[in-house]
Amino acid sequence: MHPRLPSGVVLDTGRGGLGRLAIDTDICAAELYLHGAHLCRWQPRSQPHPVLWMSEASRFESGAPIRGGVPICFPWFGPKAGDPSAPVHGVARISSWNLDGVTREADGSVNVRLSLDSGTLASPHVLHDLRLAYELRLGRDLSMAFTVTNPGDAPITFEAALHTYLAVGDVRQVSVAGLEGAAYLDKVDGARRKIQADALVTIGGETDRLYVDTEAAVTLTDPSLGRRIRVEKTGSRSSVVWNPWVAKSKAMPDFGDDEWPGMICLETANAADNAVTVPPHASHTMTATISVEAS
Ligand code: BG6
Repeated sequence: MHPRLPSGVVLDTGRGGLGRLAIDTDICAAELYLHGAHLCRWQPRSQPHPVLWMSEASRFESGAPIRGGVPICFPWFGPKAGDPSAPVHGVARISSWNLDGVTREADGSVNVRLSLDSGTLASPHVLHDLRLAYELRLGRDLSMAFTVTNPGDAPITFEAALHTYLAVGDVRQVSVAGLEGAAYLDKVDGARRKIQADALVTIGGETDRLYVDTEAAVTLTDPSLGRRIRVEKTGSRSSVVWNPWVAKSKAMPDFGDDEWPGMICLETANAADNAVTVPPHASHTMTATISVEAS
């Protein structure tokens, strides 16, 4: 049983026959798949270009992640330590989520609530009893809140990311502010620990950095599209900056060889040093809010 839907929202069948919520209001257009609770599109009416990037080569099939938009990485980030057979970035992005409710807010934005419980998450790689809730507010801004509840009597520890792919005019021209002085694990240099000395992060080659112990908002300036995208966050102590550049793009079957200049991932996360431990009968929430303004 699906909940009642307000005007401007329909539940239909999207690509690959997967269930999809299509949102079309006077302030934004959006598309969210129940597979992975995966937001594939959010575009405020003020923006002529999509804000979230999607690959033309993405798969849309159960069991596989969607490439682009906002995958949810949980309960581990990257490969699972000590378990190479486990799916990369966890199981949340390849699970089918329940749609719990959709409402229209006074400011015209659409509020969507989804959830996932241990029964659905069941996998040989996830043994804990837990419950996930994901709440999105889609309007002039985009807010995402990801909550992990531990109903059990023992603490649970996890990693998580709202793995946000942003569309840019040319990644070689963008800059990212907000990470100056932060430590990062440089995954293109053997995960060596480094310090972000420059005020701005710029992209001039394959970039895969897990910034730790940083709660700061990050701001992307994109001169070719003439806009700034700000990612504010709470309950998150890691931020990831990723662009695969030439060779890695070619190596990924669900990523077009020539698509890398048009995207950058700025991920709101808790990973590595910042894995979260939730005590028994408690919850943890991580939020990301994305806003766009002309630069
Ligand atoms: C990033 C990781 O978050 O996701 C990269 O830091 C990884 O190492 C990238 O390559 C994409 O991962 P996947 O599993 O979606 O191809």
